[in-house]
Amino acid sequence: MGKVRIAIIGVGNIGSLHASYLSEHKIEHAEIVAFCDTNPKKLEIAKNKFGAQYIFYSSAEKLLTNPEIDAVIISTPHYDHPILAIEALKAGKHVLIEKPAGVFTKNVREMIEESNRNPELTFSLMYNQRMNPTYQKAKELVEAGQLGELRRTNWIITNWYRSQSYYDSSNWRATWAGEGGGVLLNQDPHQLDLWQWICGMPTRVMGFAYFGKRRNVEVETEVTAYAEYKNGATGIFVTTTTETPGTNRFEIVGSQGKIVIENDQLKFWRTVIDETEWNDTYTGGFGEPEVWEIKIPVLFDGTTGHRKVVQNFVNNILFDEPLLAPASDGIYGLSISNAIHLSAWKQRWVDLPIDEEEFLQELKNRIGSSKKKKGNEKILDTKNTY
Ligand SMILES: NC(=O)c1ccc[n+]([C@@H]2O[C@H](COP(=O)([O-])OP(=O)(O)OC[C@H]3O[C@@H](n4cnc5c(N)ncnc54)[C@H](O)[C@@H]3O)[C@@H](O)[C@H]2O)c1
Repeated sequence: MGKVRIAIIGVGNIGSLHASYLSEHKIEHAEIVAFCDTNPKKLEIAKNKFGAQYIFYSSAEKLLTNPEIDAVIISTPHYDHPILAIEALKAGKHVLIEKPAGVFTKNVREMIEESNRNPELTFSLMYNQRMNPTYQKAKELVEAGQLGELRRTNWIITNWYRSQSYYDSSNWRATWAGEGGGVLLNQDPHQLDLWQWICGMPTRVMGFAYFGKRRNVEVETEVTAYAEYKNGATGIFVTTTTETPGTNRFEIVGSQGKIVIENDQLKFWRTVIDETEWNDTYTGGFGEPEVWEIKIPVLFDGTTGHRKVVQNFVNNILFDEPLLAPASDGIYGLSISNAIHLSAWKQRWVDLPIDEEEFLQELKNRIGSSKKKKGNEKILDTKNTY
C-alpha cells in the first residue's frame, strides 16, 4: 500500500475538521478519498468545501463495499461508533473512531471482540489529548515512581463551557436516545481516559449528577464523583459545562511528591524523603518533610492532537508504529463514566467493573422517556474548542 486511502463517515463539526487537514495533505502517506453522511445537506456542504473530486455516499454500508478505501474515520454521534466500527472491521477496513468508544460498555466489548478477530486491521480511537506532552510527562513520572505511592487525585474540569445554542445545534445532542449522556459522555471522555491512563482504574465510585441544570437538556450538565483505588488512594472528579470562567486543574499526590497540571503547565514537587518513612522516624511534633520544586521540561511542537492521532493511525497501518490510542483502551474511561451515571441514578456506591446489564437497563429506561428534538442541524466553528 502506497498511501492509506481514507474515508470519513459523519461530516459534521469534527468530521469536517479531520477532512480539512487530510485534504490539505497534512497527514503523510495518506489521502482522503470519500465522504459519507446520512444528512444530504452535510454532504452538499462537504462537496462545496472540499471539492466534487471525492466520492460521496449517503450510507456507510455502501461506502464499506468500495475496495479502493483502506480506512475509515467514524465521526458520527456516539451510539453509532461501535455499530459502524464493527461493520467496517467486518468489511476489512482499518478504523479510527471518535471518542467516546460508545455509550455503554457491553456494546464496546463486542466491538473490541470484533477487532480481536481481525488483528491485521488497525483500530484506533481519537483520544487526541493523550498527545498533549504535559499528560504524557505526568504518566511518565507516575510510572517511574517519582511520586511514590499514589494517594489522592483531584481533577476539576469545568472549562468545557457549552451554551444552550450549542445543545440546540443538533437533534441528537443532550438527549438519552440520541447521545446517551451529557458532560461525562461528550466532553469528559478525554479526562476520564487520561485520569485512568495516568493513575489507573478506581475500584469503586460514588457519583452526584444534576440533569438539565442551567440548560434545557435531558442529560447531566454538572457532576461530582468520588473514587477509591485498590491501594487506598482516593480521587475527586468535578465537571460542568455551565461555568465560566472554567477551571482545568489536575492534581496528583503521592507519598513522595505532587504534580499539578493547570494552564497547560506541569508543576512537580518532590519530598526529599517519602512521607511514610519521614513520619515513621520524625519525633519533632510540628514539622514537615523537605520539599523541592523541580522544573520539568515539557515541549509542545505546535501540532494538534487530532493530527497526531491520525498520523499515528496511518503509521501503524503502514509501518507498525505502536498505537498511542488503541480503541480497546476506550472501555476504561467509559467504564468510569458508566459507573458515575449508575451511581448517581441509584444513589449508591458502584463497584468496577460495573454490572453492564444493570447499567444498560437503567439507560434503556431513560431512552424510553427521551423526547425527540426538532430543529436545524448546524456545523459549528470548532476552532480552539477541543
Ligand atoms: N475528539 C474530539 O476532539 C471531538 C470533538 C468533537 C466531537 N467529537 C465526537 O465526534 C462525534 C461527532 O460530533 P460532532 O460534533 O461532529 O457532531 P455533528 O452532529 O456535528 O456531526 C455528526 C455527523 O454524523 C452524521 N451521521 C449521523 N449518523 C450517521 C451515520 N449512521 N452514517 C453517516 N453519517 C451519520 C450526521 O448527519 C452529522 O453530520 C461525537 O461522537 C463527538 O463526541 C470529538
